[in-house]
Amino acid sequence: MNQDQAYQLRQLSNSLVSHERTSRVVTICSGKGGVGKSNFTLSFALSLMELRKKVVVIDLDIGMANLDILMGTTPKHHLWDMIRERKSIWSVLEKGPSGLEYIAGGSGFQQLLHLQDEERQYFFQELEKLHGYADIILIDTGAGLTVESQQCHLSADDIILLTTPEPTAIADAYSVIKILHSQNPALSFHLVVNRVSRQKEGIEVASKFKLAVQSFLNKEIKIFGAIPDDSAVMQAVLKQVPFYSAFPRSAASLALKNLADRFVAGTQVQQENKGIKGFIRNFSRLLRS
Ligand SMILES: Nc1ncnc2c1ncn2[C@@H]1O[C@H](COP(=O)(O)OP(=O)(O)OP(=O)(O)O)[C@@H](O)[C@H]1O
Ligand SMILES: [Mg+2]
Repeated sequence: MNQDQAYQLRQLSNSLVSHERTSRVVTICSGKGGVGKSNFTLSFALSLMELRKKVVVIDLDIGMANLDILMGTTPKHHLWDMIRERKSIWSVLEKGPSGLEYIAGGSGFQQLLHLQDEERQYFFQELEKLHGYADIILIDTGAGLTVESQQCHLSADDIILLTTPEPTAIADAYSVIKILHSQNPALSFHLVVNRVSRQKEGIEVASKFKLAVQSFLNKEIKIFGAIPDDSAVMQAVLKQVPFYSAFPRSAASLALKNLADRFVAGTQVQQENKGIKGFIRNFSRLLRS
């Protein structure tokens, strides 16, 4: 890219920055693997975009980053290239289906803890440019907790915790809350029960889970909702298109639409929003400790 093009790109990005945008950072996590986080992340992003929210998705699934596979795209750059090659965040921000903007993970996140001070500073400096650019920054992470993902969840405005109704998935989800809560009792958890056979099952599972967290950890969590077990999801994975785009009328997509409506309504009443700046502040403090 020549200097003129770089200048134009910068002007364009600046013109897209709005101080009205809160750049709320939302991480997606689970205890057990394979419960549907990545599919949820993409389709949730698309459903938020339909509500005219500016969304940026970041793939931070260590070593296994595969959002691009689910979208059938081949990213030109990864997050790690941004740090190593000192690229601007705008040049690693890729476009997926329906204009979904995302930053591919590659294997970079693993090295984040071992960055030189200067590299780390550069990473945070670029990430901060999303302030005012995005309304919502969705961060997909791997299953369970690693040192890195833990810090990421601890720094976010909201954590969407996914589980399926299976007892093993529920037990692992509980462990995740227990660990994170012990480090920061003020975290905001939103529980999603994925792959339910009936809506009633989702409500039952979520209510029992909420009660257990309340009585054993003395912690309030929000029940965000349930998503049906729907063959459209697997079909969309095979087509490498997010289910929300491939099958917009499917039961899973309608559930996502409903979740997005509720999430956006909740955003407006959110009092204290730390946004990307707060995320960076917390994250850098945790990295130093
Ligand atoms: N609502 C659903 N209905 C039916 N199948 C689903 C649903 N959600 C997820 N799946 C199935 O689960 C598989 C795993 O989903 P996904 O890759 O999103 O999980 P993940 O939690 O991101 O996994 P990992 O922990 O490995 O990152 C999908 O390929 C799909 O077949
Ligand atoms: Mg995943």
